Amino acid sequence: MPGIEEYALAHTTPDPPSLLSLAAETQARCERPHMMVGPVEARFLQFLVWMLRPRAVLEIGTFTGYSALSMAGELPSDGHIVTCELSQEHADIARKHIATAGHDDRITVIVGPAMDTIRTLPGPFDLILLDADQAHFPEYLDELVPKLADKGVLAVDNTLWSGAVLDKSDTLDSTEGIRRFNDLVAGRTDLISVLLSVRDGLTLIRRAPGGTPT
Ligand SMILES: C[S@@+](CC[C@H](N)C(=O)[O-])C[C@H]1O[C@@H](n2cnc3c(N)ncnc32)[C@H](O)[C@@H]1O
Repeated sequence: MPGIEEYALAHTTPDPPSLLSLAAETQARCERPHMMVGPVEARFLQFLVWMLRPRAVLEIGTFTGYSALSMAGELPSDGHIVTCELSQEHADIARKHIATAGHDDRITVIVGPAMDTIRTLPGPFDLILLDADQAHFPEYLDELVPKLADKGVLAVDNTLWSGAVLDKSDTLDSTEGIRRFNDLVAGRTDLISVLLSVRDGLTLIRRAPGGTPT
């Protein structure tokens, strides 16, 4: 419905100055600023952190640090976020804003292909946000589910891909990767999932207790 995203935004707690300044620099300097999750989804992710009280958070896809910094706002005092980013330029912007916000001891940005990085991280993670490299989402599912803590949550962004998941003529690697991922998740009886139509689609996944859905 036209205007509904704006309505949701107008009825969501606004970003703090640290995120407004990060978003402004991202808009001014980066080619694809829309890659930030945006204020509504960021506030939703922050709610997840507030509810789960995660000690260990993993993010795949830092970009300029918007979602990581938002989640850090409600991280418990012993919590830490590791966030993976391919681009040195994006990581540099993220690190600058993370330091300005006083969160550089709570967020570690690791530069390199995320799959290589996460293979070096044993976990377990209480919360994982997958927000990059959509063509390989199915491989990330295999890699990340075993790294989830027993009560951990895997949040996966872009699972509606602007509606492209429904367009059979769209055979881009990213679209196919997301479609395959969505079908794999829906077919896994050892997982419980919900695909929320928040922004570009956000799927929440957890392990089914005893390996069977309740
Ligand atoms: C959609 S953006 C992440 C947005 C971020 N979560 C936010 O809200 O600002 C995806 C990011 O992942 C990075 N990326 C793409 N492929 C990657 C890979 N294989 N490993 C690590 N980072 C990757 C891109 O450079 C980009 O900065």
